[in-house]
Amino acid sequence: MAEGLGIDIVEIQRIRQLHERYGARFLQRLFSPDETTYAFSHRDPYPHLAARFAAKEALIKAGGHHKPLPWTQMEVRLDSQGKPSLYLEGSPATSHLVSLSHTTDYAVAVVWWKGNP
Ligand SMILES: CC(C)(COP(=O)(O)OP(=O)(O)OC[C@H]1O[C@@H](n2cnc3c(N)ncnc32)[C@H](O)[C@@H]1OP(=O)(O)O)[C@@H](O)C(=O)NCCC(=O)NCCS
Repeated sequence: MAEGLGIDIVEIQRIRQLHERYGARFLQRLFSPDETTYAFSHRDPYPHLAARFAAKEALIKAGGHHKPLPWTQMEVRLDSQGKPSLYLEGSPATSHLVSLSHTTDYAVAVVWWKGNP
């Protein structure tokens, strides 16, 4: 059975600068509407956006899908406890686990999967 592990760290300031430069186009290309809505429900959306971007890159590093997907189709959703999970092309990625963390400056994500990518 195959498995994979990926990690990524993102400078939060970089995400802020990309948004300032490219505006809504940047958000629409990288994040699902729900991810953007969640991030902007916070006073500072950028740690949450950066963590989600890190999760997408960690998924790619983990070799976690059988074909390249648009950024928006690699999605982090939260359960009622606030625990994140991955959705790929709108469906729960049941073979995958994801964890996020952020400080003032950096966001990190780890993705692990086992089974069929
Ligand atoms: C959940 C908790 C560990 C997050 O740690 P933190 O140091 O505050 O924050 P971090 O930056 O490291 O992590 C934040 C991320 O943790 C994730 N997270 C939140 N709740 C989580 C949970 N219950 N399980 C796993 N991950 C969780 C989220 O993805 C969040 O990022 P997001 O809001 O951008 O999605 C912390 O809030 C905590 O200990 N809470 C008290 C216990 C608790 O509420 N437990 C939930 C019920 S069991």
